Amino acid sequence: MRIVPWHEGGLDLLRRTNAPEMMVHLGGPESEEKLLDRHRRYLLLEAAGPGRMFLVELAGGGGPAGTIGYWEREWGGATVWETGWSVAPEFQGRGVATAAALAVAEAAARDGRHRFLHAFPSVENPASNAICRKAGFTLVGPCDLEYPKGRALRCHDWRLDLGDVTGLGSNDPA
Ligand SMILES: CC(C)(COP(=O)(O)OP(=O)(O)OC[C@H]1O[C@@H](n2cnc3c(N)ncnc32)[C@H](O)[C@@H]1OP(=O)(O)O)[C@@H](O)C(=O)NCCC(=O)NCCS
Repeated sequence: MRIVPWHEGGLDLLRRTNAPEMMVHLGGPESEEKLLDRHRRYLLLEAAGPGRMFLVELAGGGGPAGTIGYWEREWGGATVWETGWSVAPEFQGRGVATAAALAVAEAAARDGRHRFLHAFPSVENPASNAICRKAGFTLVGPCDLEYPKGRALRCHDWRLDLGDVTGLGSNDPA
């Protein structure tokens, strides 16, 4: 597994993974217009920051298998990094998202701008909460977010101290 900078191939992955079962914790499938907007925002974030968006690619090719990134959020009176991930159904259950989370933590740690990386999975998303735990995040507690806009989401606030991260993950093809 490796994470690569977001590129034009990301739009096809966004379309492929815009299925009800993939979007159950993310507010449901998005319109084509929203997907295009998301793709353009990810290209821009990757190009200009602050933060980065990546596609997750598996050894042996076959195109992008997932998405991950980190971006800024105001949280608890400070600016922190936030991360989020998705893996296409045919690649799930093999540790891909966990490996990608470790790799993105390394990328955020190298960036050096903020000390903490947070993830906010829905309290009802056991796989995503398991990824946080396995990637070394500490559970801060439950919280309420608005995601997508206009929809209340009960989450777990997980936090990783990037000062502890160097050497944790690998971005080498596996
Ligand atoms: C969440 C998601 C990224 C997981 O991807 P993945 O590559 O299958 O995840 P991994 O294989 O790295 O690990 C998932 C872990 O969750 C565990 N898990 C999966 N489903 C679970 C469930 N229903 N209950 C408890 N644990 C579960 C797995 O057992 C695994 O832990 P293990 O290795 O100790 O067995 C993927 O399901 C997805 O893209 N879902 C839709 C989008 C989404 O919800 N994104 C998260 C937004 S915060």
